[in-house]
Amino acid sequence: MRILAIETSCDETAISVVDGKGGLKKPIFKVLAHLVSSQTAIHAPFGGVVPNLAKREHQRNLVPLLVRALEQAKLNKPTHLLRQNGGFGMAKKVVKILERERELREVFIAEIPKIKIPKIDAIAVTQGPGLEPALWVGINFAKALGAVWNLPVIPINHMEGHVVSPLVQATAANKLTKLVFPALALLVSGGHTEIVLMKNWGKYKVIGQTRDDAVGEAFDKVARILGLPYPGGPALSKLAATATRLEPQLATPTQTASEGASGAISVTLPRPMLNSPDFDFSFSGLKTAVLYLTQKLGTLDEKTKAAIAHEFQEAVIEVLATKTFRAVEKFKPRTLLIGGGVIANTALRKHFENHVTEFNKNSSQKLTRQRLTLLVPDQPLTTDNATMIGAAAYLRLVQKKKVTKKNFSANGNLVLK
Ligand code: KG4
Ligand code: ZN
Repeated sequence: MRILAIETSCDETAISVVDGKGGLKKPIFKVLAHLVSSQTAIHAPFGGVVPNLAKREHQRNLVPLLVRALEQAKLNKPTHLLRQNGGFGMAKKVVKILERERELREVFIAEIPKIKIPKIDAIAVTQGPGLEPALWVGINFAKALGAVWNLPVIPINHMEGHVVSPLVQATAANKLTKLVFPALALLVSGGHTEIVLMKNWGKYKVIGQTRDDAVGEAFDKVARILGLPYPGGPALSKLAATATRLEPQLATPTQTASEGASGAISVTLPRPMLNSPDFDFSFSGLKTAVLYLTQKLGTLDEKTKAAIAHEFQEAVIEVLATKTFRAVEKFKPRTLLIGGGVIANTALRKHFENHVTEFNKNSSQKLTRQRLTLLVPDQPLTTDNATMIGAAAYLRLVQKKKVTKKNFSANGNLVLK
């Protein structure tokens, strides 16, 4: 089954072509095209994503990206097929579907008829969650393509894409032959932080989530406090890696900083909700602790900044891992999936890898032979992309549920269930 997938939920315009086979028993994905056009530079001056700018950029990016994706997938043999077969009928339909995307509509009508209808079985598109003006561009583009190419359109939950993203490479590389349930997914992105229990394909239960900022958002905000460039997550983790750090000398749950004998700075930040009995998170207090600390310290030299970045990252990792493994103890999953932009963070990734190795060495674990398998996507599939949307669509299609829809709307707050 070949799927053209479109993702426009935030500031990345992404198109992929994904071949799926093997069904639910042994899904294997072949990525024929994987293109992501990032708008980071456009939003950077504003320190965050501006929805209407994102909408405009998606409109500009989609058609050229589609052409390149079809080329990459070797599905592009330009003919004038559609134009000969009554291109004007097409124009009428498209004008209505792309009523609110004028810029995209013009390019669509000029360029799409030049493309031979590619050999694909379905079009998948992100329905939500995300920024609605941005989501709509992708959805209407998918609907217009579906109308002129006579293909079904499948709306996909972006978070389901992040959940299945680790499967794409793991199954292709034969590192995973079967996904064993129950599975637990930790989703860490710019908009979400949640722990999801997956009893079977398509059966999700969010068992914990952030009560305020998402973890990626906290990284971005703390980076801004430290004067790092946007987007803050990658910059902050790079800085954290440079920290020479003493063990915290004051283990009080408030923010402190002191200088050790060697001149290294020791910073201690709180671990919010670490001991709460639920699986929820809170990161806004941690961000505020960094803010107060920097205000108290005044001008920060590079060493102090690095120490703060390092300690912030440690605090985040400790809270994420503690809550996740508490959920592992309770729900006894066989697979732990981690997805979302923040798992690009090397320290976080390493921590989870080590933690799972230790967990599997544990004697009671050995006794029951209930090994926990950790699945983390490779770098290109951590941040937003369309390959994960295509993979999720394939898995939905083979579940034989009614997945294609004619009328569906963007839903900025779409929940995973
Ligand atoms: O999944 P994603 O691309 O977009 C959303 O759906 O939100 O995640 C983006 C988030 C941003 O907040 C970004 O700062 C964060 O992921 N991020 C990182 C790193 N790389 C990206 N956070 C920490 N360390 C990183 N290396
Ligand atoms: Zn995302």
